Amino acid sequence: MSKTGIFTGVSVAVMAGAIAYFSGISVSRAADIDATKVYMTHCKTCHGENGHPTDLGTGLGAREFANAEWQAKTTDEQIIKQINNGTPEKMMPFKEKLSQDEIKALVSVIRGFGKK
Ligand code: HEC
Repeated sequence: MSKTGIFTGVSVAVMAGAIAYFSGISVSRAADIDATKVYMTHCKTCHGENGHPTDLGTGLGAREFANAEWQAKTTDEQIIKQINNGTPEKMMPFKEKLSQDEIKALVSVIRGFGKK
């Protein structure tokens, strides 16, 4: 009897450990996204290091992300949609290149440019 009791106790502990382990992985994955790095890799060419468009971006019609008026009138959903779908002949869509978690993380990078 007592042996069974110990065995059950141990397997419950193992199960709990396994659940904590797996959920731990998914939590750290979301937190592991280095949004700034994603931005510097995929967006900087046109939108610039500080959200100030480069010559290339300006030529295509990109806006100043630090602009308070633009920040105020633009919703997170619009930013997510723009990154996903892009604009034909101006900005390429990123929905195939980036995960939705990465795209959401980019919203905070862009919001960060608005805070001076
Ligand atoms: C090839 C140049 C280029 C790259 C690379 C690029 N963009 Fe753009 N982006 C543009 C242009 C040009 C516009 C303006 C499009 C328009 O007027 O519809 C724009 C518009 C936007 C807008 C909407 C601005 C508004 O006025 O509402 C957001 C948000 C945005 N880009 C985010 C990003 C992010 C994030 C990345 C990287 C994942 C990225 N862009 C990469 C050129 C680029």
